[in-house]
This record gives sequence, C-alpha cells and structure tokens, in this order.
Amino acid sequence: MNRFETIANNLAEQIRAGQIPVGTKLPSLRQIIAQYGVSQSTGFRAYYLLEQWGLVRAEERSGYFVTPGAAINAVSAEKPVEAPKKVDISDLVFSVLESTRHPDIVPLGSAFPSPKLFPSARLLKSLVAGTRSLTPWSTVEDLPGSDQLRQQIRLRYVATGFAVAPEEIIVTSGALEALNLCLMAVTRPGDVVAVESPGFYAALQAIERLDLRAVEIPVDPVSGLDLDALRDALEQHPIRACWFMPNFQNPTGTSLTVEKKRKLVEMLREKQVPLIEDDVYQELHFSRERPLPAKAFDTEGLVMHCSSFSKTLAPGYRIGWATAGRYADKVRRLKLMTTLSACIPAQAGVADYLEHGGYDKHLRSLRSSLHVQLEQMETALHKWLPSSVRWTRPDGGYMLWLQLAQSVRAMELHALASERGISIAPGPMFSARHAFQNCVRLNFGHPWEARFENAIASLAEILDDPEVHEC
Ligand SMILES: Cc1ncc(COP(=O)(O)O)c(C=O)c1O
Repeated sequence: MNRFETIANNLAEQIRAGQIPVGTKLPSLRQIIAQYGVSQSTGFRAYYLLEQWGLVRAEERSGYFVTPGAAINAVSAEKPVEAPKKVDISDLVFSVLESTRHPDIVPLGSAFPSPKLFPSARLLKSLVAGTRSLTPWSTVEDLPGSDQLRQQIRLRYVATGFAVAPEEIIVTSGALEALNLCLMAVTRPGDVVAVESPGFYAALQAIERLDLRAVEIPVDPVSGLDLDALRDALEQHPIRACWFMPNFQNPTGTSLTVEKKRKLVEMLREKQVPLIEDDVYQELHFSRERPLPAKAFDTEGLVMHCSSFSKTLAPGYRIGWATAGRYADKVRRLKLMTTLSACIPAQAGVADYLEHGGYDKHLRSLRSSLHVQLEQMETALHKWLPSSVRWTRPDGGYMLWLQLAQSVRAMELHALASERGISIAPGPMFSARHAFQNCVRLNFGHPWEARFENAIASLAEILDDPEVHEC
C-alpha cells in the first residue's frame, strides 16, 4: 500500500468508527505532513482519496471536513447493491467537474461536444429574427412556453415516425430541468427509483437532492440495460419510477435494440411504473435512421421523453423539453411553480432556426464530424494504450467508455491526468456505489488536434505508474 493510502485508511477507519464525528475538521495538510513525515503531494493525495470515498469534503480556504454521508459510504464500493440506498454522489461529481473547467485543460472528461461544431452565426441570425417577431406582449403571453417552438418539436417526433400531442410538450431550461421536473412529478421523498449502472451522474444527484433512494440496474456496454435484472428489481422493490437512456447511453454509449425498447415499455406498463427517458443524444446517430425512443412504444402515457438542443445546437441557450404523457399537467405545474418559463427570446431563436435555419443539414454535418472524430480517437487509443484496454464502439453520441485493467484506479488516473492538464471522467462518478473503479469515459466530441493525441499518449504513460494500480 502506498503512503497516501495508509494515511487515508487510518483516517477512514477513525471516521467510520465515529472517532472523528461528522462535521469535524480534519488536521490540516501541514499537520499531516509533519505527523507522518511525508511530502505535500502525499498528504494531498491522502485527502483526495478520502474525498473520492465520499468521507470528507474540501471547503475552500477552510480545510477538510467529515461529510454527513460518511456512514453510508462505509459500504465497500465493490459490494453489489442489494437494497435501495440513499445516494451521496455530489461531492465526488463536483470535485471532478471543478477540475475540468479550466479552458486550457484537454476536455476528454467534458460532457459537451465542441461548440465549434455548432452553427453559431446562423443561430444568431435566427435569434435576431425570432426576437424581432416577438411583440412586447408576447414576452408575457408566451409564458410558460412558445407554441411555435412546441410545434417545431412536435414535427421532429413526426419525422422520427410517431406522433405526440402538442399539449404533452413542456419547454424547459435544458433537458436537465425536464428530467428533474419529471422525477419530481412522480416521486415523493423516500421513494425508490431505478437508475442505470453505470449511469448519468445527474440522475444520482437528483435522487440525492430529492431524498429518494436508488436501485441500480446493470448496463452492459454491448447489450445495454439488463432487463432481467430490472424485472427482478420490479418484483423486489416498490419502484416508483425509472430513469433510463435507451439511446447512446451516458456513459457507455450503448443503445437498446427496438425489441428491447418495446419489452422495457411493456414491462413497465404491466407494473404501471413511469419511465423518465433521457434522449439527449438521439439526433447524433451514425447509422442512417434516427433511433426510435422508448416513447414510440408507449400507449398509456407512462413514458416521459426528455431531450434538448444542448448537445446538437446551443448548450448555452438552455432549451429543452419534456413530452410527459399522462404526467404533462403535473410537470407543467411544477415548471410554473419553479421557474415559470424557459427564456422566451431563446425559445423564439431556436424555433426560428428549426423552421428556417437548416437544422437537418447541420445535423448531418455534425454527425459526420463526430463519426470521423470517433475513428481518430480509436486510432490514437489503439496506438498508445495497452491492448488490455477495452471499449465498445458506440453507434452515436460522442462518448467512449473504457474498461482498463482490473487493477487500475480511475480516481488516481484522474488525479494524475489533471496534474498534466487533462480531464477524464472517472468511472466512480457514474455509480451510487462509486463502483467502476477501473473505467473512464472519454469525450470524442472535439475536432481532432495534436493535443488530444498527446493527451492519450500521456494517459498511457500515467497507466504505467504503479500508483494508479491497486497492489
Ligand atoms: C445524458 C445527459 N442527459 C442530460 C443532460 C443535460 O442536458 P441539458 O444541457 O440540455 O440540460 C446531459 C448533459 O450533460 C447529459 O449528458
């Protein structure tokens, strides 16, 4: 065991035994250095490890404090979850996201594609045109949402091959708000929600915030969500809602077949459990056809389909939507009660763009860029990384889920990569149990440049460092 791990383990034992109670400030880094006779970086890494275990939280300029979740996190990350559990993921997610924010950092851990791939100038033209067509009254009358935009969104469903009623569509501030409102509409504190494992960390954060409990359903990087495990979970637990991504799942990139989507909807229909469907990458498919969402098989309004223009057009405009089936009224009310409306000028701009801006042409070019970038990323991965590293080629989106050697600890890899100016998204971010210690998610949504190739080469070097491997 390394020195920093010994220190972290000592402190963890005391925290778990209650000898260092929740809320207590831990000794300063300087004290740790003096007490154990170690370097500053060893002391820092010990605290970093405690933070990644969710036992402590760093407070700016104050030091490290024992988190309220310390008792829950005493469960080993490798133990399978047998019962629904409370979630404590935000500290870990925020600490990782914080380290990826600097503009000079190589954004392999980012959740967005490069803004260079978006038609900003054309969209600006639509923003001007759309805003010009607003009357002073429409900025008030269009609250809570623009009919023109909802009509455009409805047409995209028609083009995908099925119809939704315009009243079902609620415009939101990005998909994240849509997903959160849908979750709020169908749960109460203490309820159990089924999520994917690995899955999008924002689902875990929403569950944590709303004081719900999560049951993790395994996702296979090739075949996707394990429907047998879901069936068992539905038998065993009072699941109130599911939050899944049937298309280009984050972080694995995998999609369910049409047959599995149909089965999923049928299984949930039998139990009358609502599905919150996150479909933000639907338009980023590499095959000819836009994949159907699970919503296409919903006959009872149980599926709440959520998406946005953040991954395809304009993340900063924050325009998303929920097509919320039988829960639409409830979601609409929640929207009114929380933020009233998404920004009216941004809605007008996006609606104008969808009507006149050539969205489908832009999407064709975006998809083709992402596809090429995937090839470039894969070439670099084959060139630099050990042959033991595994990934499944996604058929859309811009994420690659890498499974590294079993001994690799992704949080260590992340820490050392950050020191070299490279962000990656470590596996434990995508699990309520902080599992997937040997996995990382890489973003290939940026036009390929030498710095990406260099970053992959650096990751290979770091992987040679014994410190990233469990002894
Ligand atoms: C899987 C997934 N769902 C939803 C969102 C949120 O999208 P938006 O930016 O539209 O709120 C993200 C953004 O990172 C995402 O990756």
